[in-house]
Amino acid sequence: MSAHLKQDKPDTANRLDQMKQGTIGQPIPRVEGLAKVTGTAPYAAEYPVEGCVEGVLATATITRGEVVSVDRDSVMDMPGVIAVIEDPRMTTRAAQGTANEAPQQSPRTVCYWGQPVALVVAETFEQARDAAKHLRVEYREESDAPVDPQVVDTEEQEDETVRQGDLARAMSVAENAVDVTYTTKGHASAAMEPHAAIAQWDGRQLTVHASLQMLNYNITELADALDMEEDQVRIISRFVGGGFGSKLGLSEETVAAAIAAMELSRPVRVVMSRQQVFQCIMRRSETTQRLQLAADSEGRLAGFGHKALVSNLPGESFAEPVLQSSHFLYAAENRELMLEVARIHRMTAGSVRAPGEAVGMPTLEGAMDILAERAGIDPVELRLRNIPDKDPEEGLPFSSHKLAECLRQGAEAFGWDTGPRRPRQRREGEWWIGTGMASAARVHNVGEAKARVTIKPDGTALVETDMTDIGTGTYTILAQIAGEMLGLDPAQVLVDLGDTRHPRGSGSGGSWGAASTGSAVYVACQALREEIANRVGIDETALDLADGRVIGGQTLVDLLGGKELGREGHYEPGAIAEDYTASGFGAFFAEVRVNHFTGETRVNRMLGAFGFGRVLNHKTARSQCLGGITWSIGAALTEALEFDPRTGHLVNCDLAEYHVPVHRDVPDVDVIMVEERDPVASPLQAKGIGELGMCGGAAAIGNAVYNACGARLFDYPMTPDRVL
Ligand code: MOS
Repeated sequence: MSAHLKQDKPDTANRLDQMKQGTIGQPIPRVEGLAKVTGTAPYAAEYPVEGCVEGVLATATITRGEVVSVDRDSVMDMPGVIAVIEDPRMTTRAAQGTANEAPQQSPRTVCYWGQPVALVVAETFEQARDAAKHLRVEYREESDAPVDPQVVDTEEQEDETVRQGDLARAMSVAENAVDVTYTTKGHASAAMEPHAAIAQWDGRQLTVHASLQMLNYNITELADALDMEEDQVRIISRFVGGGFGSKLGLSEETVAAAIAAMELSRPVRVVMSRQQVFQCIMRRSETTQRLQLAADSEGRLAGFGHKALVSNLPGESFAEPVLQSSHFLYAAENRELMLEVARIHRMTAGSVRAPGEAVGMPTLEGAMDILAERAGIDPVELRLRNIPDKDPEEGLPFSSHKLAECLRQGAEAFGWDTGPRRPRQRREGEWWIGTGMASAARVHNVGEAKARVTIKPDGTALVETDMTDIGTGTYTILAQIAGEMLGLDPAQVLVDLGDTRHPRGSGSGGSWGAASTGSAVYVACQALREEIANRVGIDETALDLADGRVIGGQTLVDLLGGKELGREGHYEPGAIAEDYTASGFGAFFAEVRVNHFTGETRVNRMLGAFGFGRVLNHKTARSQCLGGITWSIGAALTEALEFDPRTGHLVNCDLAEYHVPVHRDVPDVDVIMVEERDPVASPLQAKGIGELGMCGGAAAIGNAVYNACGARLFDYPMTPDRVL
């Protein structure tokens, strides 16, 4: 039996509000944490499968053209080699979550250097890797493959374009105007667990262990790629070692493993190398962004302009949504926003953590710092003066809005000095010290989700959904939600995730997982409560469950009388999404030191204050904020994809050359969670939190660099050569 909730109006009086136990929100450690740190939680490549052989992808060494032939004989005599499989379905771009009519889907077409062209299967991984390197592939190469986004024609993303009022006029009459252009470099997702799959085929049923974020969608992609029915395919992703967007869509290792297993009738494992993950999964686009701010003498914005250029392969539908929060963050009557895409032959651009705001907010918030200086206004005060009371473009109300509280609480806790700000005021030895701040914003999304909750005869509960936990704490918060609703300790709730045999959850991505799949669990539990109340003979609203019993009545065990009781919950976002603008908000504060002689920048301390609806678990939520702030440090100071200007080939394709922050780069970080209940955002009253912590943080660091040493920089990352 199933229960359905389509949210069409604010959920102001839901049952969770009246629950007394307070299980939700408790900072309980991740329920799967022990298994992970003791190595007993199997990741995709680690499932013991008898007779499994190893596949390694061979990748293209041209930028654009066609595969003329793959010379199988060049490797078939090498030790251990079993097969060379060339199958255009392996490199379908549908496999990357951008299912569209991209030209690169036609068989044997190569669109970027590093694109998989064949799979070599051998007895051992080393044999397969060696043979994949030696595989001779003949290409017909096209010489006119543009790889530089600055030299090609661009396509306007028309649904992003906004023209309201007259920005040019607002700029010309403004008492304080800022017109600046920033660049940001490409970013890698670089999840700790590389992309990997083991496929098994029994002649009727395909079973794939893979590392994916969105099983509800990946199963459709895989069935489509293989021209099979979905019920012939099962995907299992119980543990995922990070995704950051790179595992939203199916990629080549999973499709290749499946094709090889079916062709060879043997289990096949394909694990990408770190270099392959960098070179052929996806990149965050580099951007060029022009910001125009027109303000009066008080710093109140009359004009706002944000234009961005991003890139992707020809035909790809994804365009880094740089302007996502720019549409509603600050009030201004005269507005011009535009997003353009350059079509170039670098690897596919796709979602990398916080797509859009991760690069759109650091530039906007850098420009706001310049405006604060020009207008002689404290940067915190400048933001406070420009918070709109409704969406400035759409006129919609905000579902909830905690930017002002975050700015105030963050400034207070950080010890923000609201006096006049001038750069180069504080020097300690060879270090210039400075502080900076920025606003945070990240749109809130929810998606359809299903989950089944079953109360077992022994009084424990089981939650089943194909939802994934990509390291964010999904196992834990779903146990807390069910525990709260059913009056159980979360330890008595077993959560079984990551298996397409279960009801379809929302998947993990875009910070929507907790609110969406959590709501499906809520709906299922509510149906269970109604059935229990029915059996007890009272109204559900009078039902009080705690410690595994009906308060004032039977235990659940007695009530069930040896049978189990299960319900499926189905949550759908409804019309409410059209009636409100929903976003998480926050504020970042940073103190940095910049070396006078070397330009080296170190972050001394950092603080983020965030408002993202109800906090489902204070520990896992805080961890997400810390992770986001760590990404902010990387985006500000070190992370940059570098491409060969001749071939578009990504050259810094490992973690030695692509510099993510390590422990020594990350100081003590404080996180303040400004709790709120958002009845519009979801029945849980929670908004997304996963990505908010990196949406603007880089600007707090960049603004602190300016305050420290006087170098106003317009190019991220702010490496020492630029700071000097
Ligand atoms: Mo996220 S970049 O949508 O996993």
